Amino acid sequence: MSVAKKQYKRITVKSLVDMKANNERISMLTSYDFTMAKIVDQAGIDVILVGDSASNVMAGHETTLPITLDHMIYHATNVVRAINRSLVVVDLPFGSYQSDPKEALRSAIRIMKESGAHAVKLEGGSEIKDSIKRILKAGIPVMGHLGLTPQSIYKFGTYTVRAKEEAEAEKLKEDALLLEKLGCFALVLEKVPAKLAEEVAKSISIPVIGIGAGNGVDGQVLVIHDMLGMDHEFNPRFLRRYADLNTIMTKAIQDYNKDVKSGDFPNENEQY
Ligand code: KIV
Repeated sequence: MSVAKKQYKRITVKSLVDMKANNERISMLTSYDFTMAKIVDQAGIDVILVGDSASNVMAGHETTLPITLDHMIYHATNVVRAINRSLVVVDLPFGSYQSDPKEALRSAIRIMKESGAHAVKLEGGSEIKDSIKRILKAGIPVMGHLGLTPQSIYKFGTYTVRAKEEAEAEKLKEDALLLEKLGCFALVLEKVPAKLAEEVAKSISIPVIGIGAGNGVDGQVLVIHDMLGMDHEFNPRFLRRYADLNTIMTKAIQDYNKDVKSGDFPNENEQY
């Protein structure tokens, strides 16, 4: 087990690479708004991901495909305003980087300029290497994302574990090496077998941050709504719930409703 070895006043992309070299695990959580991001930052989480999972948990869409670049910039701007220490990484949404490298660069520049975030994340390997190169060349740090890449859900057909077959595992290993070679500062591996994820983490010098990828990687990420237990219906095997906010919030809201209806709220001390 690794423990924090160095106090980082502010997390940078270099801090993350140093953490891996020093065998220190990296913590990452999503946030999409000011209030949540402030709590996450103050709790000491290293990286805040403004994920396109906002499409699911904030907007109620079934997939991450509908969220737009403008939406992502809105969420990222609100998160950045709350931050003192964490590194803020923002997902480039579906449709904002796949068609050509120039468009990818334009999208990344808009995120960096308009939100003040510190890095962007893109899903995919060799297929998007020219876009990654172009963004990196402009001085924008890039985090990769391999394995289950939700923006390709209609190609996969399901959200099941990826790279169980030899051919897909080989391609994933090659893509991880490529992303490192291109200059990505870190890589998310989503829903792949733990043994494969560990092999990938050992094969590259940049940190590998897992979600449903076991404990042999360099850090972990979860969607904050999932780990706080906001939605009882989402129960993947990889998820550990650290709270049951759904129950706590429901009870609080029911109590408030009851007190308003009965005339109990507000009392004499709760008025002017
Ligand atoms: O959008 C997101 O929240 C993500 C994480 C699941 C890694 O990409």
